[in-house]
Amino acid sequence: MLARLRTRLNKLRNRRKWKIILKNLSSVYNKYSHFTMIPKNLYIDNLLLCRKVKDEPGDVVECGVWRGGMIAGIAEMLGNSKNYYLFDSFEGLPIAKDIDGINAINWQNDTQNPNYYDNCKAEIDFAHKAMQLSNVKYECVKGWFDQTVPNYDSIKVISILRLDGDWYDSTMICLIHLFPKVVKGGIIIIDDYYAWDGCSKAVHDYLSKTQSRSRIATPKADIYNPYLTTLINDLNNILKAVLIEILPLLIRLRFSSASFNWEFFNVISSGW
Ligand SMILES: C[S@@+](CC[C@H](N)C(=O)[O-])C[C@H]1O[C@@H](n2cnc3c(N)ncnc32)[C@H](O)[C@@H]1O
Repeated sequence: MLARLRTRLNKLRNRRKWKIILKNLSSVYNKYSHFTMIPKNLYIDNLLLCRKVKDEPGDVVECGVWRGGMIAGIAEMLGNSKNYYLFDSFEGLPIAKDIDGINAINWQNDTQNPNYYDNCKAEIDFAHKAMQLSNVKYECVKGWFDQTVPNYDSIKVISILRLDGDWYDSTMICLIHLFPKVVKGGIIIIDDYYAWDGCSKAVHDYLSKTQSRSRIATPKADIYNPYLTTLINDLNNILKAVLIEILPLLIRLRFSSASFNWEFFNVISSGW
C-alpha cells in the first residue's frame, strides 16, 4: 500500500517535472520562432534530444541554419560551456539535382509556394541577432559547405552535429568532414532524413561507404515518422469507411427498423 503510494507520488513528481521542462522549452521556441522554419513540436523534439547529450564534451555545429533560430535555442538551453558554429551560404539552397528527387526539384521550381521561403535564403544578420539573444560564444561561417566545411580547423570535437542542408551534396560533404569529429555519446541530428530523398541517400551512402556500425534512430513519433503517417492513413481510412460504408448502413438499418415497426404495427392492426 505504502509502496504503491510512493510510486504514485513519484509519477506525479515526474509528471510535474516534465511539465516544467516542456513549459521552459516552449518558451525557448517562442523566443526564437521568428528565426526558424522548424515547427514547434519538432523544435522541442530537437531541444529534448540535445538536452540528453548536454554533458558530453564538444561543440555544437549546425550546417544549414537559415536565420539561426534552431541553434540559438540549443545555445539558450545549453549555455556558454560550449562553442557554437553556424555554417550557411546565407544565399539559399544550391540547385537541386536528380539525386535529390523529383519532389525537391518540383519544390524548387514552385517559387510561389508559401513553403518556398525564397529558396531558404536568409540574411546573415538574422543569425547574428538570434545568437546574440542567446548570449553565447559563436561563429557564423558564411559560404558554400564544400568550400567552408573541409577547411575549417577550429572545430576539434563535436557533441551535437545538426545537419539541415536538405540536399544530397550538402549533407554528404558535412558527413564526410564532421561525422568523424563527433564524440562517442554525441548526437547527429539529420533534419531532412524523412523530408528529402537526397538527404536520406547521403546518409545511407555515407554509412555504407565508411562501413559504419552507427544506427539510425527515430526517437519518438513526430509528423515525419512513417509509422505515425501510416497510423494517420489508417485512421483516415477508418473515418472514410465510417462515412462511406458504415453510416449509410446505419441509416438504412434505422429506416428498415422503422419500416419493420410500421409493418409490425400494420400486422397487428390488420390482425385486429
Ligand atoms: C531548411 S534551411 C535550414 C533551416 C534552419 N535550420 C532553421 O532552424 O529554420 C536550409 C539551409 O541550408 C543552407 N544550405 C543548404 N545547402 C548548402 C550548402 N551546400 N552550402 C551552404 N549552405 C547551404 C541554405 O542556405 C539554408 O539556409
